[in-house]
Amino acid sequence: MTTGCIILAGGAGKRMKSERPKVLCEVLKKPMLGWVMDTAEEFGFDETAVITGYRKELTEEFVSKRGGIIYTYFQSEQKGTGDAVKRAGEFIEASEYICVLNGDAPFIDAETLRRSLELHKSTNASVTVITAEIAEPTGYGRIIRGANGEFTAIREQKDCSPEEAQICEVNSGAYWFNSAALLRALPQLTDKNASGEFYLTDCVELIGNARAYKSDNPDIVLGANTRRGLLELNERARLRVIDRLLDEGVSFVSTDGIVIGADVKIGCDTTVLPNTMILGKTVIGKGCTVGANSHIEDCTVGDNVILNNVQAYSSTVEDNVKIGPFAQLRPGTVIRKGVKIGDFVEVKNSDIGENTAISHLTYVGDSDVGRGVNFGCGCVTANYDGVNKFRTEIGANAFIGCNTNLIAPVKVGENATTAAGSTITKEVPPNSLALERSQTRIIENWQKNFQRKRK
Ligand code: UD1
Ligand code: CA
Repeated sequence: MTTGCIILAGGAGKRMKSERPKVLCEVLKKPMLGWVMDTAEEFGFDETAVITGYRKELTEEFVSKRGGIIYTYFQSEQKGTGDAVKRAGEFIEASEYICVLNGDAPFIDAETLRRSLELHKSTNASVTVITAEIAEPTGYGRIIRGANGEFTAIREQKDCSPEEAQICEVNSGAYWFNSAALLRALPQLTDKNASGEFYLTDCVELIGNARAYKSDNPDIVLGANTRRGLLELNERARLRVIDRLLDEGVSFVSTDGIVIGADVKIGCDTTVLPNTMILGKTVIGKGCTVGANSHIEDCTVGDNVILNNVQAYSSTVEDNVKIGPFAQLRPGTVIRKGVKIGDFVEVKNSDIGENTAISHLTYVGDSDVGRGVNFGCGCVTANYDGVNKFRTEIGANAFIGCNTNLIAPVKVGENATTAAGSTITKEVPPNSLALERSQTRIIENWQKNFQRKRK
C-alpha cells in the first residue's frame, strides 16, 4: 500500500500582494509551504510532489534547499486546484493512495493525516476529505451533506446558495484519494462555476463514495489568502507555541513581543523576557534567561545561560555563559563554558575557550581563543585585508590589553600579554609581553609657548 502526497503551491495569491508565491509567505518566520512539507515528512509518505506555478523558480529553490527527494510539477497557468493536481498525472499513477494538501494551510498535522487515512481505508471510501467546524466559514468550501448526514459534495463560497453559506463545516483542503478514482475524475472536471476554475473539490461529487473526516481541531483548516489572514495565523501559532512551552516548564513574565518558532526546544526553568524572537532550529537548555530584546536563530544554547539583549545566529553557547547587553554572535561561533561577553562585543566564526572574558567594545572574528583569556576594552582582530580572511590564534590565559589590534594571521602564545594600544603583527611567544607603541615624549611648558604664539 503506497502513499503519495501532492502539495499545491502554484497559486500567485494575488490578494497577498507579494512578488513571491503565496505559499512562501511566512508563519513564525517559516514559509507556509515549509510547515506543510514538515507535516508530510513527519507522516512519512512514500513519495512527495509539489505543484509549482507562479514564480516557480522561487518555489523550486525553497524545495531543493530542504533536501530529500521531492518531485515538482509545473502548472503554467493557474487554472484552479483541480488543474494543478492534473499536472501530476504520472505521480498519481505510481501510488495507491494520494493525499492532496494545500500549501497555504500550515496547521494540518501528521496525526490528523494518519487518522483520516485509517477512516478512508476502514470505510473503503474512494475519497476522504478532512473537515472541521469553524465560527467564521466565509471563503472556505462548505461541506454539503444529504438527508442522512452523508457527505455528498463541497460547495465553494462563490457558488453557495444563501442556505449553504450558513454551513460552518468546511473543507480543510486536505484529502485522501484512491489513485484510480482520482485519475478517472480529473479529466471530467469543468470550469463552469463562479470562478471559472477547475476545482479539485468537484472530484468529491464526480467520484462519489466519499467520507468526511471531521477534526475537532478547527485550526487545521486555517489558510491565509491575505496579509490579514497571515497575521492571524502568526498570532495563533505564536500563542500555541507559548502554550506548549508553558506546559514544558518555561516561564514568561509577559508574552509581549515574544515570537518563538514552532521547531524551537527550550528546557525547564528557562525564562523568556519580552521582545524576544527565538527561531529556526534553536535548542535552549534549562535555567536560562533569554531576553529582553533578543534575537536567537538556529543556535544551540546550554544550561544556565544569560542572553541579555543579544543577537545570535547559527552559533553554539555552552553552559554557564553570560552574554550582553548589546552583543552579537554571528554564524560559526562557539562560546565555551563559563565565558563572559559584555556590551558592544561582536564575535564571528570563532571558538572562545572556557572562562574567557570579552567584556566591552571588542570585535573577535575568525579566531581560536584558548581558555581563561582576558580581553581588555576595545580590542579588534583585523581578520580581513580586503581580499582574504585570516585567523587569529590566542593561547590559554593570555591577556589582551585594551585597544589591541591583532593583525591576522597572527598568534599570541599562552600566558602572553599584549600591552594596551599595541598593534600586533608578529607572533607573540608564550609568557612574553608584546609592546608596540612609541615612547612617550614630554615637551615641558608646551602649553604656555603655544598660547604665546597664538597671540
Ligand atoms: C481551497 C478549496 C476550499 C478550501 C480551502 C481551504 C478549492 C477549489 N477550494 O480554496 O474548498 O476550503 O482551499 O484552505 O480547491 N493552487 C495551485 N494552482 C491553482 C490554484 C491554486 O497550485 O491554479 C494552490 C495554491 O497555491 C494554494 C492551494 O492550491 O496553496 C489552494 O488554492 P487557493 O486558491 O488558496 O484555494 P482557496 O480559495 O483557499
Ligand atoms: Ca487558500
